[in-house]
Amino acid sequence: MQTSKLFSFVAGDTGTWRIDSIGQVIGESLPIAHRLSIFQGHRASEASLEAWELRGFISNIRYATQAELEALRSRQAGLGRREATCAALIPIRKSADWWSLAQDERRALIEEQSRHISVGLEYLPAIARQLYHSRDLGEPFDFLTWFEYAPQDAEAFEELVRRLRETKEWTFVEREVDIRLSLSRP
Ligand code: HEM
Repeated sequence: MQTSKLFSFVAGDTGTWRIDSIGQVIGESLPIAHRLSIFQGHRASEASLEAWELRGFISNIRYATQAELEALRSRQAGLGRREATCAALIPIRKSADWWSLAQDERRALIEEQSRHISVGLEYLPAIARQLYHSRDLGEPFDFLTWFEYAPQDAEAFEELVRRLRETKEWTFVEREVDIRLSLSRP
């Protein structure tokens, strides 16, 4: 794997992002920490006093159709916008039942039955996002999902998360932690 596609989310006492809350949604939560750093590639030194570290990599698209990708590309905003001082890191693990399904069954659950992509599109470009895959790294979660938004879009983000958690797709989620963060820019 290209190390440029690998990212480490390290929680401890230092880091650019302030951790405002760590919410348990389903399954075991994560230990409390105050700050989060995001490293690209392998971390040079493995400081031992960190609260936790989660790793994931940017991968190819699995389920979105060409039309959906075009819609996403035409609307989505990139990470790192100056006004996007709020973030959410939501690590998710899906059940063995999910992973035993065929690709076409999973696609149908994600979009035809749950409207994950079409619902998500309603919140673009306000919410910027990046999906990281962790399952193949033997990590405790299958995915790390990362979102950035401006404070005035915080309510819209809550609504989006609420809508997704009510879907059929989410009945396969067996562990989910909802970490909210903020930046104070000079
Ligand atoms: C901001 C609006 C959102 C959009 C436009 C969006 C779009 C997408 C798309 C297109 C995929 C499929 C990628 C592929 O084909 O491989 C995906 C996957 C995923 N999204 Fe979202 N999403 C949004 C919000 C969210 C939120 C708020 C969460 C978590 C609470 C979330 C969690 C996930 C997860 C875990 C996957 C991986 C599913 C799997 O591969 O089984 N998404 N999203």
